[in-house]
Amino acid sequence: MTRTAVARAPGRVNLVGEHTDYNDGVCLPIALPQDTVARVSLRAGDRISITSAQQASVWTGDLAGCGPGRVDGWVAYVAGVLWALDQEGYDVPPGLDVHVTGTVPLGAGLSSSASLEVAVAVGVLALTGRRLDESERRRLVQVCRRAETEVAGAPTGGLDQSAALLTEPGCALLLDFQDGSTATVPLGWTAAGLELVVIDTGVSHALTAGDYGARRRECEDAALALGLPSLRDADEDAVRRLADATLRRRAAHVVSENARVLSVVAALDRGSWTDVGELFTASHASLRDAFEVSCPELDLAVDTALAAGALGARMTGGGFGGSAIALLPADRVDAVRRAVDTAYADAGFRAPRHLDAPASAAARVVEVSG
Ligand code: GLA
Repeated sequence: MTRTAVARAPGRVNLVGEHTDYNDGVCLPIALPQDTVARVSLRAGDRISITSAQQASVWTGDLAGCGPGRVDGWVAYVAGVLWALDQEGYDVPPGLDVHVTGTVPLGAGLSSSASLEVAVAVGVLALTGRRLDESERRRLVQVCRRAETEVAGAPTGGLDQSAALLTEPGCALLLDFQDGSTATVPLGWTAAGLELVVIDTGVSHALTAGDYGARRRECEDAALALGLPSLRDADEDAVRRLADATLRRRAAHVVSENARVLSVVAALDRGSWTDVGELFTASHASLRDAFEVSCPELDLAVDTALAAGALGARMTGGGFGGSAIALLPADRVDAVRRAVDTAYADAGFRAPRHLDAPASAAARVVEVSG
């Protein structure tokens, strides 16, 4: 019987802390119930095949053909992980069949790509008999980041891979990208009669497109102008010293967003749900007006959810499309969804997709056989 490992890895919602990860800042993601399943099997010889239930194309090649500049599109997120595992000294069998399937909506700002990378990495690890302990999970965050930045060409910051590997059910994960520390933050809102929902605008965003990289460069330029290693070390006074108005807006977002993450954690701890909601909404305003990564569909979802009774709402993820989240009383969920559907129809936007967002489990091995 062919030796096979099956692994799952979730998509994520970032509760708050947007565009902070690559600025050595703080973020607060949860894992979603939607995930990617990777089935990784040994095969004789040195050929690798990569297939997906969601894609018609089949990729075949060898490990040497998995590296930077050799693969593109969705395959790069799978092949890139095999390459990065090999680069980081893991034992990657030369002959493999990798098949993936998933329920994380693609291009919805819910990290379908990180869930794909992580499912494949965990699958290969299980196939080669390595245990997925805490330190291994942290190493895999770096492996999957290398795949995404060096092979897929998306200059992202580590939030998504960390969320897929390190979260716990019922909890958010406080990530500090300056010192690498993490803390589990229990979410008491379900017991308080609240629910978090996702509104997928259907406007697809690609992080390999230029806007995300442009924002990242602006943040680096702002830190450089201030003589700081990163914007994590900036404060409001420093932001005021920036001569360039665009850089000032970008830096103002990052500085205020880091503060909001810590305020949300404190408000969650106190059970101050209205404060949590207001901080979410303030984060959205900052991303819309100062960081300028929202879009009309996201703004309409947020405004409509708030008008229909949400405590707070904001875009989540990189922006330029993707999804919004809203925190609301469980008995308002249907009313909010209907209001958003109506507002979208009135605006002539494509109908949005609604998802529930209970904080779910991180990546795991499902089975190893053969
Ligand atoms: C995308 C990137 C992350 C992060 C967010 C914005 O999801 O993959 O690294 O930068 O955007 O917070």
